[in-house]
Amino acid sequence: AADRPLGGVRLVVSAGGTREPIDPVRFIGNRSSGRQGVAIARAAAERGASVELVAANVESAVLEELDGAPEVRITPVGTAAELQAAMEAAAAAAAIVIMAAAVADYRPAGVSPGKIRKADHPDAPPTIELVQNPDILRGLVARRQPGQTIVGFAAETAESEEELLGLGRAKAERKGADLLVVNRVGWTEGFESVRNAVRVLDRSGEPVLRAEGSKREIAAALLDLLGR
Ligand code: C5P
Repeated sequence: AADRPLGGVRLVVSAGGTREPIDPVRFIGNRSSGRQGVAIARAAAERGASVELVAANVESAVLEELDGAPEVRITPVGTAAELQAAMEAAAAAAAIVIMAAAVADYRPAGVSPGKIRKADHPDAPPTIELVQNPDILRGLVARRQPGQTIVGFAAETAESEEELLGLGRAKAERKGADLLVVNRVGWTEGFESVRNAVRVLDRSGEPVLRAEGSKREIAAALLDLLGR
């Protein structure tokens, strides 16, 4: 039906930001609120899709934005490794896979079993050795199911539109997703904010859409593009 353009379609979307533990009380994280991914989950459910939201440390106040929408299955995760496992499991049966979560590129090589204390480092600050996390999106692209559409996000700091599009193009080519949603982030833009401005690039890095507005409006514009 016209009001259920995604009826019968399975969609999985990740949202939020991973936290990589340093010790039992500390982590390396980022400022992603999960709002854009949650808005996509809601909009897709409203269009009839069967939606799984893989939520990386998304605050309950943000998840409440799903209230009143058709059911969305929520899988909470913490670390990049947990996010990867959840996405790979869900992607096996999904027609549309959207990686909106901000994933830590690195994690501490080891997690201290007890709290790191200043008293244990009297002479110099401790150092945290990092190891690289897998690129989840690239892994999903490598195992893409026949007919599956995969969407990535790229949050970039850029001085100009030209630089932003250049960074986006390089990332589109590197990741191999069908679409890459590029947005500018900084101290005052992007993360945590209710509004957003994005450029959507195709697999070769060509811009196919610009959208600006609330995260709900951006979600609608993106799903319109996917519905075509
Ligand atoms: O390389 P960058 O982090 O900018 O790429 C962003 C895109 O890649 C997002 O879709 C993000 O969810 C995904 N990503 C990932 N695994 C990582 C890093 C990023 O899936 N380790």
